[in-house]
Amino acid sequence: MHIIANCTHTELKKAARALKDGNLVAFPTETVYGLGADATNKRAVARMYSVKNRPTSHPVIVHVSSFNKLQNWALDVPEYAIKLGRNFWPGPMTLVLKRTNLAGDFLTGGQSNVGVRIPSHPIALRLLTLFEDLGGLGVAAPSANKFGGVSATNVDAVNEEVGLQLNREDLILDGGQCEGGIESTIIDCTTSNPAILRPGAITYEMVTNCTGVLISEHSMKKSIRAPGGLEKHYSPNAKVIIGSNAGIDDGLIAMSTVLTPSGAIRLAAPKNIEEFARSFYNALRKADQLGLSKIFVVSPGGEGLANAIRDRINKAAADG
Ligand code: TXA
Ligand code: MG
Repeated sequence: MHIIANCTHTELKKAARALKDGNLVAFPTETVYGLGADATNKRAVARMYSVKNRPTSHPVIVHVSSFNKLQNWALDVPEYAIKLGRNFWPGPMTLVLKRTNLAGDFLTGGQSNVGVRIPSHPIALRLLTLFEDLGGLGVAAPSANKFGGVSATNVDAVNEEVGLQLNREDLILDGGQCEGGIESTIIDCTTSNPAILRPGAITYEMVTNCTGVLISEHSMKKSIRAPGGLEKHYSPNAKVIIGSNAGIDDGLIAMSTVLTPSGAIRLAAPKNIEEFARSFYNALRKADQLGLSKIFVVSPGGEGLANAIRDRINKAAADG
């Protein structure tokens, strides 16, 4: 495996070729790093699942470079989904749509729908475009971490998670720290009204304002299979506890206005909600590197992005 520190046009062309040849390429997006495989290559996708140690019943998101590439993957796209795509793509949003035959069971976990996203990170977009120039149709990319673990938002984290499992021809593209820091909003668009399956930076309010239709009642619940559906997810080795009561040698993640109790180890002190999202997974990783046994997290209040952060905190803190 090679880490490409300087993602020039030439290097990205090589990376697109590597993907087309069936290799795996980890790349930065505006949310978290993805572990990419040619979405039409069953063997490459199978290897990506095995590197992640991920059950095959768990669907992956297909990434494309532009709206008109959607038709390769999705059928019967409802009017409200077109509005969402036009408004928020490229960006941190995944739409779950009725699949075409191209979207095989090996991608969708056997479901009749497929998740599609157009990321906005310039490296991701350029990689996808160059891949499509070679005849590629889409890149399947889950977060570049072990199944159930903490998503990777910088290259060291990607290397720590999957580096050892990658082959000689596989690549990791270094795009620095991801701006967003938590995964995309996933919206089920297979029924008459949209349903948010995983909250993210595209918020409930943004979705309602854009579509003009109400979000379904079953939003935020497990309507269709498993979008981060297991209760426990995004978990470090240390036990995550919601609260501020950190004791000696316990980790603490909280907004900068929260003071650190004496003897506790401050892992992050974000000044605003965007910084909280960006630093959260790094802070969880830092706790594991320090060998801490407990991490206290003070959940941020408010709606929008704060709601998405609370979702990740609750999943990291869930038992089981
Ligand atoms: O921000 C993101 O979405 C990142 C970047 C790399 O694009 N990707 C990501 O993928 O978070 P992953 O596989 O770690 O999480 C996607 C979640 C999974 O829990 C999966 O079960 C769910 O989305 N999902 C994917 N396709 C789905 C589908 N067709 N129906 C329901 N859930 C789906
Ligand atoms: Mg993931």
